[in-house]
Amino acid sequence: MLSVQHLNLPDLNRILLRAAELEAQNPLERTRILAKRRVALLFYESSTRTRTSFELAAKSLGADTTLVSSLSSSIEKGESLKDTGLTLRALGAEAIILRHSSSGAPWLLEEVTHLPVLNAGDGMHEHPTQALLDLRTILAHLRPGIAEVGPETLAGVTVTITGDILHSRVARSNMLLLPRLGARVVLCGPKELLPEVAIEGAEGISIERDFETALRASQVMMMLRIQAERLAGLQLDLEEYKAGYQLTGDRLRELAPETIVMHPGPIIRGLELTAGVADGPQSRILEQVRNGVAIRMAVVERALAVTTQNGGRA
Ligand code: CP
Repeated sequence: MLSVQHLNLPDLNRILLRAAELEAQNPLERTRILAKRRVALLFYESSTRTRTSFELAAKSLGADTTLVSSLSSSIEKGESLKDTGLTLRALGAEAIILRHSSSGAPWLLEEVTHLPVLNAGDGMHEHPTQALLDLRTILAHLRPGIAEVGPETLAGVTVTITGDILHSRVARSNMLLLPRLGARVVLCGPKELLPEVAIEGAEGISIERDFETALRASQVMMMLRIQAERLAGLQLDLEEYKAGYQLTGDRLRELAPETIVMHPGPIIRGLELTAGVADGPQSRILEQVRNGVAIRMAVVERALAVTTQNGGRA
């Protein structure tokens, strides 16, 4: 689970189906599925949703989990990703869930440890399980009861992703996934956060600079946080940004009263969206969080299905 690009349609359907089955399963029975298997969470960046939901997901299946974060581990003393990965493997980890600030880090970790690595967000590159939980959320509202996804499942659906596209691994994974199911993805934001070059040649993806035009045409509004930690060197007037791109209750009521509002979190109330929208009836933000546990149960089970009890590929 390094990239959504590695998932074909049968993979996607298996994950979505398995997420539903595991969610519905008796919790005691569920803990036998990965009883005493070992899963390591290796986090070089802060996280609330992804880390907690991966941990709860693995534990729900009976796995033992351990968390290594860059603060409070030997990473602080200069230990490399390779040596940290090899150490976790020597300690019995059978799969590693990795969040890292460098794009591509999960590929390196998989190469050196030969363990399944689940990408929990790598730099500005990808966040595949976020795209999967986003897909589950969209399907629940726009295609309820659908048995299987295919190339036309989201035909006629416009998903607008608004905000800091430049720095967003969530946007990237969704851009790679949703058009394959027929959705039209519209990217919306100022040039500083959404350069033209970002979508050159990408099928099913377009840019709309005018937020209200995009909002009017969308069944799904996916709002993104301005990633202040990655903004070095960029000049952005936040008041101007809010005037142009903030999702407010008035805009939503007037232009998109049926549209669902999503956000990967963390949200910054009063910046990319108002508190009223975040807490309002069109918001699906907490449902996304809940879907994270089901999706991550399915992908952790899938990852451990290809390893032996002693670690390494079966
Ligand atoms: N959506 C997401 O990745 O949130 P966290 O950074 O809290 O994990």
